[in-house]
Amino acid sequence: MGKLDELLLESPSKISKRITRISELKDYDGKDVFIRGWVYRQRAGSSLSFVIVRDGTGVVQCAVKKQEVAEETWKMANDVFLESVVYAYGTVAKDERAPDGYELRAKELMVVFKGEAFPISKDQSTEFLLDVRHLWVRSQPILNVLRFKAYIMKAAREFLDDRGFLEVQPPMLTSSAAEGGATVFEVKYFDKVAYLSQTAQLYSEALIHGYPLVYAFAPSFRAEPSRTPRHLTEFWQLEPEMAFYDQDMNMSLQGELVEYICHYAAKKHPDLLKKYGRDPKDLLDISAPFKSITYEKAIAELNRKGLHLKWGDGIGLDEEKVLVREMTQPIFLVNQPKEMRAFYMKINPDDPRTVLDGDLLAPEGIGEIIGGSERVSDYKELVARLHESGLKEKDYSWYIELRKYGSVQHSGFGMGSERLVRWLLKLDTIRDAIPFPRTMNRLEP
Ligand code: 4AD
Ligand code: MG
Repeated sequence: MGKLDELLLESPSKISKRITRISELKDYDGKDVFIRGWVYRQRAGSSLSFVIVRDGTGVVQCAVKKQEVAEETWKMANDVFLESVVYAYGTVAKDERAPDGYELRAKELMVVFKGEAFPISKDQSTEFLLDVRHLWVRSQPILNVLRFKAYIMKAAREFLDDRGFLEVQPPMLTSSAAEGGATVFEVKYFDKVAYLSQTAQLYSEALIHGYPLVYAFAPSFRAEPSRTPRHLTEFWQLEPEMAFYDQDMNMSLQGELVEYICHYAAKKHPDLLKKYGRDPKDLLDISAPFKSITYEKAIAELNRKGLHLKWGDGIGLDEEKVLVREMTQPIFLVNQPKEMRAFYMKINPDDPRTVLDGDLLAPEGIGEIIGGSERVSDYKELVARLHESGLKEKDYSWYIELRKYGSVQHSGFGMGSERLVRWLLKLDTIRDAIPFPRTMNRLEP
């Protein structure tokens, strides 16, 4: 009986304890170990074949020599499909040519699930890869993005937790459209209509009156008809909301958070960044506080760059791109005209045509990654802003009521996690920053 036959007679928990993770093989140089995983690649030869195995922690090549293994092992090594499930037993050995510097010189190999020929091979179209996303999520490029996103969101939570923030859970089923009716998804809610949450903000504004510093990290839904590399219909937003904060304090906090995440990524995960063509130094150079440009100055600047904009025109994706094309630091776009902005944004006392808002635009042509503002905390001003925006008081009655009891100056922001990942990893499209992207024309898989 071979070593693998013996191993596989054990209980699943005992087997798991005896398996070495691929990422830890470097600690076992010269030793015999068991590994398991999925076949990532296979190269068959006449006397030496390679079965490249991935287990989620890493990828390793198992060298199988015809002379040195049982006939059955040799046959299995040459007959496997990509994604077959295999166990291997062998000696860990340094090898300069191996992807991570080590290989496994196999003594035994066993295919425990062969399956069918895997439909994904090299050079397939983007559309096809989106169709088979449920299989493509096993790929290293996607796995590494997911890893990166988990790391930086952990860093973001760490940053906020250290500053005394409380993580809270907003509802996803809501009674009104917080960010405008045009992009809200309606869902049947018994005999009523509910809306999928576009933002946690309004609920967080209620919660700061119990605890002054809160944040939510939750999905946001937008019926966004745009087919752009930066729009999803479902994305994850990190939204801090702070009592006793004015808009300057709000923007300072955003700067510190973004700097913290950039430095964290550069210091802790430089190799991952390099895999996506991002020089960690770019991120170490990100340094808060970030500059601001008012809407008025931005319009003038864009016109100097050849655009033809007048007061009241929107600064959208194309304009943002032009504005930040040559920048290396993020910049806040502030004080946009109130007609273009949400009803909850406080009027700018220095120029009542505008509001106390700030969109943080990432450099390199990326554009908006954060939207934030100081909120209207006065009851009468809020009602007036609602009317001006053509909204009905009755749809926001609970939200308005917050201004009747212990209302305080407060501010907050929302950072799109996929937009952030797209910027930091230089991804062509935001779709690759989330495992199962939802867009106007994609709901499956
Ligand atoms: O600018 P937005 O719409 O702001 C809000 O939702 C505020 N209520 C946030 C707050 O103050 N708490 O969205 C905030 C951020 C954007 O800057 C962007 O990063 C991201 O969410 N975002 C999207 N990401 C992907 N796809 C979309 N369709 C997005 N819309 C916004
Ligand atoms: Mg915005």
